[in-house]
Amino acid sequence: MPRVGLIGPGRAGQALVRLLPPAQYEIGPVLSSSFTSTRRAVRRMRLGTAAASYDEFASCELILIAVPDDAIAVVARDLAAVSFPFRGKVVLHTSGALDSSVLAPLRARGASTGSLHPLQTFGRGLLSLAGVTFAVEGDQRALRLARSLINAWHGKLLRLKASQKTLYHAAATFASPLFTPLMEAAVRLMGHAGVGPKTAVRALRPLLATTLENYMHSRKQSWTGPLARGDAETVRRHLEAVGRVDPNLARYYRAAARAALILFRRHPKLQRLLQKARIP
Ligand SMILES: NC(=O)c1ccc[n+]([C@@H]2O[C@H](COP(=O)([O-])OP(=O)(O)OC[C@H]3O[C@@H](n4cnc5c(N)ncnc54)[C@H](OP(=O)(O)O)[C@@H]3O)[C@@H](O)[C@H]2O)c1
Repeated sequence: MPRVGLIGPGRAGQALVRLLPPAQYEIGPVLSSSFTSTRRAVRRMRLGTAAASYDEFASCELILIAVPDDAIAVVARDLAAVSFPFRGKVVLHTSGALDSSVLAPLRARGASTGSLHPLQTFGRGLLSLAGVTFAVEGDQRALRLARSLINAWHGKLLRLKASQKTLYHAAATFASPLFTPLMEAAVRLMGHAGVGPKTAVRALRPLLATTLENYMHSRKQSWTGPLARGDAETVRRHLEAVGRVDPNLARYYRAAARAALILFRRHPKLQRLLQKARIP
């Protein structure tokens, strides 16, 4: 049974190892940025053993690095400095934006290297990775191991070239990290309209669900509302009212509305109006 070590037991790392079938993978050492947080993570996961140094990863076939993107290069450099051999080991990182070249020091030590990015958000506890797409790239051996992990999670594999990763990840950023603030903007404006956050979230849910469903069915043809119709007077009233209660949200609205009209090549007059609209 392959022994898996985890460096970076944060949101993504914990979920990924927790959802591996225990009959197929053994979770070994876990290491975080401090021993206190490592122990806390191991207690929470009820899996693996808290490691105090990289030396404890000598017995792992797979080392999964799930630290923030900016820390991967440092982890790769420091891990590569250990004395145990890397031949036969696979090291994968979980970043969406970076490719496996960031693991070059480990590759130079004989490790197979790759990246495996779950196209999923781990903001809350997740019960399954079934149906989730994983973008993978790397050398042959790393890809083979990534494929068996994805099968174990019942996920879907998406092969990417290293050069495609940053754009792929920017695309994913539109679908989740840039989407959450849009919803928060809607809830805040409901607050200014006198509707509390709980009621607002409940009321917006069917609208959101149908918007998503419709988009899946007919993509940009599903676009509705004042921008799609080109209702300039309504848009002008929105900007004025939002600008009075929250100028930052009015600027957000203006920028998003203009970008949407340019994206869909609709209503050039309204595009110009939005460009010129002044917000206090
Ligand atoms: N969150 C998501 O939804 C998501 C989805 C797909 C992919 N990813 C990818 O997964 C990776 C981690 O993201 P995340 O959101 O899970 O981050 P996170 O929740 O902030 O967790 C990062 C983990 O890395 C540890 N860490 C930081 N620096 C370290 C170092 N130098 N050595 C060892 N451990 C270190 C942190 O320990 P401390 O707690 O002690 O600081 C923490 O356990 C990123 O590459 C991200 O792109 C995340």
